[in-house]
Amino acid sequence: MSTATESTAATAGLRGVVAAQSAIGDVNGEEGKLIYQGYDIHDLAEHSTFEEVIFLLWNGRLPKQDELTELQDRIRRNYEVPAPVLEMMKQFPKTADPMDVLRTAVSSLDFYDDHGHGTDRDSAVRAAVRITGQIGTIAAAWDRIRNGKEVIAPDKNLGIAENFLHMLRGEKPDADEVKIFDIALILHADHELNASTFTTRVVAGTLAGMYGAVTAGIAALAGPLHGGANTNVMKMLIEIDDPAKIDSWVDKALEEKRKIMGIGHAVYKTEDPRATWLRKFSKQMGEKKGEMKWYEMSQRIEQLMHEKKGMFPNVDFYAASTYYLMGIALDMYTPIFAVSRISGWTGHILEQYGNNKLIRPRAEYIGKRDQKYVPVAER
Ligand code: COA
Repeated sequence: MSTATESTAATAGLRGVVAAQSAIGDVNGEEGKLIYQGYDIHDLAEHSTFEEVIFLLWNGRLPKQDELTELQDRIRRNYEVPAPVLEMMKQFPKTADPMDVLRTAVSSLDFYDDHGHGTDRDSAVRAAVRITGQIGTIAAAWDRIRNGKEVIAPDKNLGIAENFLHMLRGEKPDADEVKIFDIALILHADHELNASTFTTRVVAGTLAGMYGAVTAGIAALAGPLHGGANTNVMKMLIEIDDPAKIDSWVDKALEEKRKIMGIGHAVYKTEDPRATWLRKFSKQMGEKKGEMKWYEMSQRIEQLMHEKKGMFPNVDFYAASTYYLMGIALDMYTPIFAVSRISGWTGHILEQYGNNKLIRPRAEYIGKRDQKYVPVAER
């Protein structure tokens, strides 16, 4: 800021700064509580479905049966991705990171939506429905394309969770895995003003269209300090590999001031309530597959980090071993996060459009002043 009267010290990483009003979700970091539109995440995970949560995040209330059926039908009718987008994806290098592919392909969906730039409620909901339907199809299709496999067409008879696993693996998933995956989608749906959601609101605040705002959100989610952590948790577990090596591995990492992925949170100072569910799923999947190693290793890391640093696992920590045991490729974990978080992003974008003000904070200027320009030849 340029004048003394305006001057306030910038807070590193905007921690604790209230940057928007929102009725969508709230994180209570002290108590480890998360609510969506007033509903406790544990209640929603226990009783709801991902589609019901989407309705909740967009409309501020739970749907009646006919409203839920209508939204489900609308999303399912939009599962299919425009053929030119799939054709474009087939030209990408097979080594491309799935998050980069998702970002590029979702951005291109804009070309095929005549109202894609509309910021009125109807146009924006329409775009939100389309992206919510198509984002999973893109993510699953890329995993097949890069592996030289045939792309599996979406099945309009299936819900988002089941359809995604079906398109990814080419076979119908069993009911237990569908249930776990559906709850994982609920748990990742919204998290107040996290980095990617804030990004989507900043873009929407300029009255840019829904596709641009979501594309920016995907870019932000990809970073290892945000959604990219889940993949890195699994890489870490695979690197350690031997449960007997965990203690020395963690000691060395802490000595070298390296961060343990999936541990710690900018807001939660206690257990992340989403981790409570994912810990259970990691164990359940371990038992189902007869491979408890990853769950047990994760538990030991959790215990050490609590003893040594007083830190707790976040949503990404046990999501990693849960998805690994579902046979999902490591670098698909973050795209899966996006398949869920699209609901929160679009909810926040709708809220931003509904009561818009351009988001334009100030910077605390710490540079030089009164510099005299010297011509290049004289420097
Ligand atoms: N492993 C080891 N030490 C950690 C740590 C971790 N995962 N997370 C934080 N710390 C330490 C930092 O090294 C720092 O120590 P110092 O004070 O001695 O320098 C201190 O705790 C504060 O860290 P900082 O990164 O400033 O806190 P933050 O509130 O910004 O942290 C995260 C939030 C999520 C960015 C951070 O915990 C992290 O990077 N975690 C790993 C990545 C991750 O799982 N991200 C997903 C978030 S849902």
